[in-house]
Amino acid sequence: MNIKQNLLYFLCKTIYRPLPIEENNVKHIISVEYKDLLIEKNTTFNVCKLNIQNKEYYFRECKKHVKFEEYLRNLINEYVDSLEDNNPLKLEFLKVRNTLMKPDVMRKLFRMGIVNDRSSKISYFFKSNDISIWGIQELENIELNELKDLFQYLWGEIYSYRLNAGLKKGLYQSFNASKSLATKKIADLLGIGYLIPEIELVKLVFPDGNEKIGTLMSAVNGIAPKKMLYAEKQKITPKFQRDCNSLNVLDAICHERDHRPGNYFVRLNSNGEVDSLEAFDNDAPMTFSLTGNINLVTYWGSSPLLLSDGALNLVHVDKKLAQKILKLKDEEIVNSLKLILSKIQVWFVCKRIHKMQKAIKHTMQKSADFFISDTEWNEKTITEELSSDTINSYLKIFCMSSRKEKNYDD
Ligand SMILES: Nc1ncnc2c1ncn2[C@@H]1O[C@H](COP(=O)(O)OP(=O)(O)OP(=O)(O)O)[C@@H](O)[C@H]1O
Ligand SMILES: [Mg+2]
Repeated sequence: MNIKQNLLYFLCKTIYRPLPIEENNVKHIISVEYKDLLIEKNTTFNVCKLNIQNKEYYFRECKKHVKFEEYLRNLINEYVDSLEDNNPLKLEFLKVRNTLMKPDVMRKLFRMGIVNDRSSKISYFFKSNDISIWGIQELENIELNELKDLFQYLWGEIYSYRLNAGLKKGLYQSFNASKSLATKKIADLLGIGYLIPEIELVKLVFPDGNEKIGTLMSAVNGIAPKKMLYAEKQKITPKFQRDCNSLNVLDAICHERDHRPGNYFVRLNSNGEVDSLEAFDNDAPMTFSLTGNINLVTYWGSSPLLLSDGALNLVHVDKKLAQKILKLKDEEIVNSLKLILSKIQVWFVCKRIHKMQKAIKHTMQKSADFFISDTEWNEKTITEELSSDTINSYLKIFCMSSRKEKNYDD
């Protein structure tokens, strides 16, 4: 049993439950066709690529929080619908669904856990390929890879179901959407909206009348850091350095610990130097959790954001950003977040911002040239940061980390 995970589920049913989404929060109603919506493989919380008038977007559905049995049936139906007609799972659809929906199998699926918990059933399954752990030996004639793809689809949705357990049945699951929407709001409030893609709550309407509510995010145009060679990642501009540090500050305010290189794309300038970044994955379960702590450490191992004396543990930070944070009033924060996050989540955002204001003031007193303006970021500040022995910053992780992202089918 994973105690941390169970504690999270408990909190999600109580004080950490998300604010429900009201239908009237939907910003746009968009007519789409099923063929324009494609599930991305290899994600935690499934996301779909969506083509609207030849423009690419990413849509993450807020599924209805119904009884688990109905939820699972819907998931299996939807997944199978998205497959080609000759897919072995589709050909044996009823057998697959009936097997997965046997009460004892369903119970195991509900508790399948998450891939990055090594003690979970789902991670054991991906490693061992042993279908007997689910009690679904009847499906052994179906290609294992097809079953693994189905389980890859299911685990994030079931995880999401459990994170939304605090919502009344029949409401839309808002746990993830609220985090992505709130991150964008705060980035805009801090004048660093360019780090986070546009995102809004929409309703998709299909030709058969079916509707889906969810977040629609602009596609980030850029390169995945994992596709770049080490040498290419050394050619960076001072502006990119500034942005990496701004993202770290934003993350401490949002308590987002998952902005690893796999969760943003970068863009190059005309000289082939890495010049900007945009982070699309802003819904890690602990983002906007109930903590006043801004001493952020990311899952990818960035150094704690604060020194023991409370000053910022970075080399430099954008002066404009610091000034913006210092001027922020609680009222502005509450107004921008009150329709998205729960009251208690907003209270903790305010708390983290107060702490950040304190850390900024303290850092200013300690070192006069810590906060710098756009023209002051240069080759020297880059060298200073990359050669630091004590700080493992976002920039250093981008340029130097040799850690690799792992997928379930690797
Ligand atoms: N707005 C976007 N622009 C471009 N690509 C996107 C966007 N949103 C998602 N993607 C693509 O979809 C993939 C999965 O998205 P995302 O990182 O949000 O999912 P996730 O399930 O939270 O992933 P993980 O938990 O593995 O980090 C990304 O790695 C990226 O390739
Ligand atoms: Mg991701």
